[in-house]
Amino acid sequence: MHMSNNTSKVVIAGGSGFLGRYLAALLRHDGHDVVSLSRTRSDVTQTGVQYVRWDPTAVGDWTAVLEHADAVVNLCGETISGKRWTDARKADLLESRCTPSQTLVTAINGMTNPPSVYLQASGVGYYGTGEGVVSENSSPGDDFLARLAGRWEAPVADVGVRSVLLRFGVVLHATEGALPMMLLPFRVFMGGTLATGRQWLSWIHILDAVRAMSFVMERSDIEGPVNITAPEPVRNKTFATFAGAALNRPTFLPTPGFILHWLLGEQAILVTEGQQAHPTILTQRGFVFRFPKLDKTLENLLTGSGTDR
Ligand SMILES: NC(=O)c1ccc[n+]([C@@H]2O[C@H](COP(=O)([O-])OP(=O)(O)OC[C@H]3O[C@@H](n4cnc5c(N)ncnc54)[C@H](OP(=O)(O)O)[C@@H]3O)[C@@H](O)[C@H]2O)c1
Repeated sequence: MHMSNNTSKVVIAGGSGFLGRYLAALLRHDGHDVVSLSRTRSDVTQTGVQYVRWDPTAVGDWTAVLEHADAVVNLCGETISGKRWTDARKADLLESRCTPSQTLVTAINGMTNPPSVYLQASGVGYYGTGEGVVSENSSPGDDFLARLAGRWEAPVADVGVRSVLLRFGVVLHATEGALPMMLLPFRVFMGGTLATGRQWLSWIHILDAVRAMSFVMERSDIEGPVNITAPEPVRNKTFATFAGAALNRPTFLPTPGFILHWLLGEQAILVTEGQQAHPTILTQRGFVFRFPKLDKTLENLLTGSGTDR
């Protein structure tokens, strides 16, 4: 697949979401055809992205859209943060990832002309939480998010084409994803460290996240898990300092861990613990980050430039 030279067709399942829309915009900008599979949408956007309805629970007529695709990207899944992690919510989070993953793998394996590459979202939560550096060959953790990632990734082992597991860190954008909530306390002059402030945050600028997806699509020598994270993860304390500086707000009000646990329940792990994931594969293969540093990233995002595609 030579995406930068020829027009390719890329199918994005779950393409209506945050990452899917930015990936589609980048691919369209680079001259590729993009089809997004959605459970509800069937239209064509102004930028030329075609939405096709599909049933993520079963292989069916919709699979015709995969014909002649060069790449299939699976970004499906109910949002992890937000609703409390009850048993029913956890089942939804699992089901909304494992079922589309299994369906797409089955569909691709049944094709006469399958795509040359299958990319699937996962997360650095795969590694669990802790203090040490983790890279793609580190072992899995055993908390809820780690088990979720393991089960989400499992069907991909059976796909009969080159496959890449996109283990995303927190993808940063000024108005979408996790960053707006992370910045809210700072905006109202109540910002500071969360819990111990020592927990790691593996993050990446939205522009680098979509550039990295396009990079791994193109590079036929890349297969298996790839950390989609910036090269310098930071501790929560550093995030607070940079966020305060970018917003010109104080950062002296710490929130104790027990309050976060009381407010968020088990989901507090998203903010009270983290992991120090390094993008070993991207770095080894020569991917050049436009935003390797968090201070410049926040400055860029919060002054409004750099995310226009
Ligand atoms: N954003 C991040 O910082 C981040 C970090 C780590 C991992 N990830 C993972 O990367 C993927 C994409 O992230 P995102 O931020 O773009 O998520 P998003 O904005 O929530 O979009 C996910 C898309 O998945 C589809 N979807 C939801 N439930 C589904 C189900 N039961 N079956 C099939 N499709 C379903 C939806 O499309 P339709 O409603 O149109 O069908 C939705 O637009 C997610 O799996 C997410 O967990 C994201």
